[in-house]
Amino acid sequence: MDFLGHGRVITIDVEKLHTHRHARIEYLIGSSSSQDIIAQVQSAVQLADGPVLVILDSDHSQAHVRLELEHYHTFVTPGSYLLVQDGIIDTLPRFAHARPGPLPAIQEFLSMHPEFQVDDKLCEQFPISHHPQGWLKRLPEAQPTPCPAC
Ligand SMILES: C[S@@+](CC[C@H](N)C(=O)[O-])C[C@H]1O[C@@H](n2cnc3c(N)ncnc32)[C@H](O)[C@@H]1O
Repeated sequence: MDFLGHGRVITIDVEKLHTHRHARIEYLIGSSSSQDIIAQVQSAVQLADGPVLVILDSDHSQAHVRLELEHYHTFVTPGSYLLVQDGIIDTLPRFAHARPGPLPAIQEFLSMHPEFQVDDKLCEQFPISHHPQGWLKRLPEAQPTPCPAC
């Protein structure tokens, strides 16, 4: 982003895990699914003058990922991506204790949001990935579906 001369990162965690600082990065402490944090992200997105990409990598339980998908998908600009990390939880036996994880949340979300599709090419660009079906592309011409609970 510094080379490009623009761009901003907003990152969220329930814990303050480090003291790193950077002019382009804003650190929000709180749950990504809390109304307060969502409102802060929404304010920042409204100021964005370029594409918005969302990455989900917090609590990987199906219920939490589903909540995040419903709240954060509206921030993704047409043609950009929503990356849902760690769907591997639902495929590798060693992560069976953490299921249901992101994959069923992705599938349910996609069934209700035709404006998003899995970008298979991106998902399969590496022989191994932690994020199967994780790269969700917002179709360029599509409008976001309003969240019925919001
Ligand atoms: C898999 S780690 C990923 C951390 C970071 N994305 C990275 O790549 O280094 C998951 C992080 O999510 C945080 N977390 C767990 N539940 C959360 C929630 N509801 N909202 C925000 N962050 C959460 C944890 O504290 C942990 O630091």
